[in-house]
Amino acid sequence: MVGQISNLDARTVLDSRGQPTVEVDCYVDGKLLGRAIVPSGASTGAYEALELRDGDPSIYLGKGVTKAVQNVTQRIKKAVVGLQVDEQRTIDETMIELDGTPNKSNLGANAMLGASMACLHAGAALNGRPLWKHISGDNEGLMPVPMLNILNGGAHATSNVDVQEFMVMPHGFETFQEGLRAGVETYHALKAELKKDGLLGGIGDEGGFAPNLPTNEEGLKYMVRAIEGAGYSTEEIGIALDVASTEFQKEDGYHMGGEVLSSDDLVDLYGGWLDTYPILSIEDGFGEDDWDGWAAFTKKYGHRVQSVGDDLFVTQSKRLSQGIELGAANAMLVKLNQVGTVTETLASMELATSNGMNNVVSHRSGESEDVTIADFAVGTRAGQIKTGAPARSDRVAKYNQLLRIADEVSAYKSPFKR
Ligand code: PGA
Ligand code: ZN
Repeated sequence: MVGQISNLDARTVLDSRGQPTVEVDCYVDGKLLGRAIVPSGASTGAYEALELRDGDPSIYLGKGVTKAVQNVTQRIKKAVVGLQVDEQRTIDETMIELDGTPNKSNLGANAMLGASMACLHAGAALNGRPLWKHISGDNEGLMPVPMLNILNGGAHATSNVDVQEFMVMPHGFETFQEGLRAGVETYHALKAELKKDGLLGGIGDEGGFAPNLPTNEEGLKYMVRAIEGAGYSTEEIGIALDVASTEFQKEDGYHMGGEVLSSDDLVDLYGGWLDTYPILSIEDGFGEDDWDGWAAFTKKYGHRVQSVGDDLFVTQSKRLSQGIELGAANAMLVKLNQVGTVTETLASMELATSNGMNNVVSHRSGESEDVTIADFAVGTRAGQIKTGAPARSDRVAKYNQLLRIADEVSAYKSPFKR
């Protein structure tokens, strides 16, 4: 039989923050056919599948991944060698069974996802198809509207800005190439605006500028100045926010902008922003356990704005089902390493779409040259991707892969016009 996994190899490599992470090679019939590198978050949700770290403070400040690497080269390898490489579901289910825990704490979600993605690549190579086509199967691909995170705050910067990500979303364009170009030009326009005001310093983990600003709202004003400064209208380019509010939620409320806010205060705050700024999407507006806050906001404003659950759903069907029941959000953020396998990620996305929700495929703040998510977004027809600013190769690599795919796939449409 051809097409069987003959070996899995793995090693420690580095991510974009200089932290160790797992790289996996998948061999089929003795040939290296697939390779993948696992990303890593900083504002990680409490319900994410477990990222296995060695915890030995003398090596990589405790962040070593030698145990995860070993799990790939020993236990996972033993279980999957001999399986047909393009039978992704069988491979993933075999690993899930081997792990046997609800949060992947036995093998580590980083070990499992590395193996899962390496096999996905190998399956595509075996069949001589681009990865996006291997994923889409009989469906056409769809180019995603990018969310470019051009102003970084929160856990991804050392500034005083609470909101983690201010993104531009070029949704009013005919092609991906035009949309991306408009977003990139807006990034350069933001640089010029910040420079004018003496606010140009370093950049954050996702390549966006990271100025200190007097208020979070000031960030929104800069976004509009950048869009218009680049010569575009706010009809063509909107704003997407990732508030990542779990990061500043304490027992007594949300510590934001020097105040302590209740969930109701936040609903009103966002409502005011929606009245004033061209905001299309708000991610993690409420904390990962604040189901009531989520539901109240989505009920009141869900017809006007995309309300995206990241830490809330952690790409897991169980949490998503709960959210669907409560009407907590109308979109899901998709991060493969939050759940740990390709198959489970696809199942969660399917559950979201079959309930009328959008999917937004996402990078992590710790990334690499791995571009799997670019193909993944196109092949699943997610329609949206967030993968940082057009700066630093760990972010740009995904946009460049999308530009290559766009040579073959032209469909591109705003997820907000149905
Ligand atoms: P993370 O941030 O990768 O640091 O979790 C990304 C996000 O919150 O969407
Ligand atoms: Zn997020």
